[in-house]
Amino acid sequence: MKAVVFTRYGVPNVLKLQDVPKPEPKDDEVLVKVHATAVNDSDWSYVRGKPYIYRLMYGLMKPRVSVLGAEVSGTVEAVGNHVTQFQPGDYVYGDISEAGFGGFAEYVCAREDVLARKPPGMTFEMAAALPHAAMLALQGLVDVGQIRQGESVLINGAGGGVGTIGVQIAKQFGAEVTGVDSSLKLDMLRSLGFDHVIDYQREDFTRNGKRYDLILDTKTIRSPLSYLRSLKSNGRYVTVGGNVSRLLQAFCIGPLVSCFSDKHIRIVALKPNKDLGYVNDLFETSGLECVVDGPYPLNDVPQALQRFGEAKHLGKIVITIAPQERPLECSTAP
Ligand SMILES: NC(=O)c1ccc[n+]([C@@H]2O[C@H](COP(=O)([O-])OP(=O)(O)OC[C@H]3O[C@@H](n4cnc5c(N)ncnc54)[C@H](OP(=O)(O)O)[C@@H]3O)[C@@H](O)[C@H]2O)c1
Repeated sequence: MKAVVFTRYGVPNVLKLQDVPKPEPKDDEVLVKVHATAVNDSDWSYVRGKPYIYRLMYGLMKPRVSVLGAEVSGTVEAVGNHVTQFQPGDYVYGDISEAGFGGFAEYVCAREDVLARKPPGMTFEMAAALPHAAMLALQGLVDVGQIRQGESVLINGAGGGVGTIGVQIAKQFGAEVTGVDSSLKLDMLRSLGFDHVIDYQREDFTRNGKRYDLILDTKTIRSPLSYLRSLKSNGRYVTVGGNVSRLLQAFCIGPLVSCFSDKHIRIVALKPNKDLGYVNDLFETSGLECVVDGPYPLNDVPQALQRFGEAKHLGKIVITIAPQERPLECSTAP
């Protein structure tokens, strides 16, 4: 089979499309014929080995994983002896980062517990784009942010995967939602349902005097204390990621802020795939939309990663694999 192989850290061009043996499922695994996969921050960080914590986690001198790609959608081709939930022919999707990555390939094996059934009508592109961003948005807004009906919410870094799904989840709670991103993305944000937009290159939302019940941040570039200015009483600042030293500060300062004020600073530790059932329901009942950048073919993975690193993407960058061979039922947008 074809796979985009990763043997040393560096720029995205170190990734090469090669022929490799097709994997075989272990007893608890499912073999998935991949129809689509998506580019994530984890792929971008892993390929460069930066921040260096990635090398501690995934290989000091050279990467332990040979094929990147954290999210997949596709058709089950074979199942291991102990698999109970799936059978060949099922359409599945999920975040496979905790099952060894491997989405940038024609086939991948993954444990059955990291996969969910794809609803009919959801395109494979959308299914590949959803798991990571939707779980971060959902866990950030609902589990950690404890969003309540009718609250005012600001999403910083709103034009990426998390923000574009996040606004749709916040709207389920009747929230008034403000999105912060660069000028190029503001029209897209309005079309997705953001009530207000702010161009971060022209305006610092922490200094414009406006206050919110909940801030969801995908970038975290400022001192965590500066976000307190923009929170109402009982307001929550929730970060899903960003600058490592700022995140460390948020981790240390957060508990003190809660002790000495009525505001809160919290960090999301992603629980992959935890609520894909909720996402399926949202898709079926409310027509959840997903902003797809691409799709690009498998041999364009290095360029797609570069595009992600340069933040030129709108929404999620999606890679499709052998589109002419996929089931017709789900090959076009609903
Ligand atoms: N907590 C966890 O367990 C966990 C797990 C996995 C990933 N993560 C994190 O989750 C985040 C993923 O978010 P995502 O996929 O939505 O990111 P994304 O697709 O990279 O989008 C981020 C957006 O922020 C914009 N942006 C850049 N600089 C900005 C600034 N100074 N102010 C406001 N917006 C700015 C970018 O646009 P421009 O650059 O064009 O301006 C882009 O539209 C990442 O931080 C990742 O590290 C967390």
